[in-house]
Amino acid sequence: VSETGSLSIIVLGASGDLAKKKTFPALFNLFHQGFLSPDEVHIFGYARSKITDEELRDKIRGYLVDEKNASAKSDALSKFLKLIKYVSGPYDSEEGFKRLDKAISEHEISKKTSEGSSRRLFYLALPPSVYPPVSKMIKAWCTNKSDLGGWTRIVVEKPFGKDLESAEQLSSQIGALFEEPQIYRIDHYLGKELVQNMLVLRFANRLFLPLWNRDNIANVQIVFREDFGTEGRGGYFDEYGIIRDIIQNHLLQVLCLVAMEKPISLKPEHIRDEKVKVLQSVIPIKDEEVVLGQYEGYRDDPTVPNDSNTPTFATTILRIDNERWEGVPFILKAGKAMSSKKADIRIQFKDVPGDIFKCQNQGRNEFVIRLQPSEAMYMKLTVKQPGLEMQTVQSELDLSYMQRYQGVSIPEAYERLILDTIRGDQQHFVRRDELKAAWEIFTPLLHRIDKGEVKSIPYKQGSRGPAEADQLLKKAGYMQTHGY
Ligand code: BG6
Repeated sequence: VSETGSLSIIVLGASGDLAKKKTFPALFNLFHQGFLSPDEVHIFGYARSKITDEELRDKIRGYLVDEKNASAKSDALSKFLKLIKYVSGPYDSEEGFKRLDKAISEHEISKKTSEGSSRRLFYLALPPSVYPPVSKMIKAWCTNKSDLGGWTRIVVEKPFGKDLESAEQLSSQIGALFEEPQIYRIDHYLGKELVQNMLVLRFANRLFLPLWNRDNIANVQIVFREDFGTEGRGGYFDEYGIIRDIIQNHLLQVLCLVAMEKPISLKPEHIRDEKVKVLQSVIPIKDEEVVLGQYEGYRDDPTVPNDSNTPTFATTILRIDNERWEGVPFILKAGKAMSSKKADIRIQFKDVPGDIFKCQNQGRNEFVIRLQPSEAMYMKLTVKQPGLEMQTVQSELDLSYMQRYQGVSIPEAYERLILDTIRGDQQHFVRRDELKAAWEIFTPLLHRIDKGEVKSIPYKQGSRGPAEADQLLKKAGYMQTHGY
């Protein structure tokens, strides 16, 4: 990262789960690959617990390398850990943030910042309830010293609010302190390789241009499944549920990239303008196009109330009321404690008119983009069954990343996104108006769920979710194909 001067990365909530599992490992990988130079970077952890630098390093060490690569990376690991300093303090204390500022300033002086700029990146790996006091403290005590040049940026995580009103309130509070170009709202799905591939696929391939619309596409399905429950996170999860945890952010962001019009250019603002238009074209969700589920055993978690109606599974159909998509159901489906761990996008094409082969029951053309695990894209086609008879069979054109790009390691979403924040590229971050439009879509439904007006149907752990969800898909015109 090539600006001169010092770069301070401050992880607030340094001893929490997110920081340990995602933020520090991503920083370490960037360091290991040479994107963070020890000549300019210092990393600060800030949290309430009174621990030493060494204790923080011990807490995170185990998350940075696994047994397989421990020895190959041990040299880099010890250099990286040396860059980390810890400051403890409450999230609303002047005194704590003054000490943090002092620590950052000392680092800047040691890197001869007077010859360059002072760049300060604050990563809020914290619950949203403390975003307002923390941003106030950062603004008051820790922003970069302007006479040195450089910048101050803040990175915020989801859940960014609980509904439209709370999200807007949070946006105004933070917006009063920082300018939009300083605020990076992370949605880590936007950092995934095959999500980033979506615009290339759509707009750099002539093949797809004439097909990508209501004339040819019967339905679009965006699916997320996990084969484990809310273990250890029941308290958090019960307050939010699967729609706020996965659908309103991750899956909706993916939907935008599938459905948006071609941006004027690749400039972040042009791309985000088109995403906002898609979100604003979504019409209100009807209760009969929603199926909620809750896995059996979810309420055994002592932090979950016995009468919780919080969905751990949801299928919702969104309808985009514009020229390209009118009448095409966008099925968003997410579930915990399901039969497999998988996320994919499935674009199902309409039947061929005048089916002279009488092969339509074998399945339609379907283009599948598997986001994880094992990134892949495949197209289901009907071909002649090899042999003397004129019979048809459904087959696949298959692009599996592991086979095609052997030896290329696919970066972790957080690595890419943190690098973008340092480089000042907001393309893969959610803009304030985008966030508002996303909450507008789901807030009425979420309020009905919170009031218990839409009920979660129990489903077995390790299953496909409630059978009602498959019936809803069928009604929406999704044709189930073999093996899925
Ligand atoms: C997080 C959710 O945003 O995404 C988790 O809070 C979920 O509940 C996780 O497990 C899934 O991310 P990934 O990258 O493993 O699909």
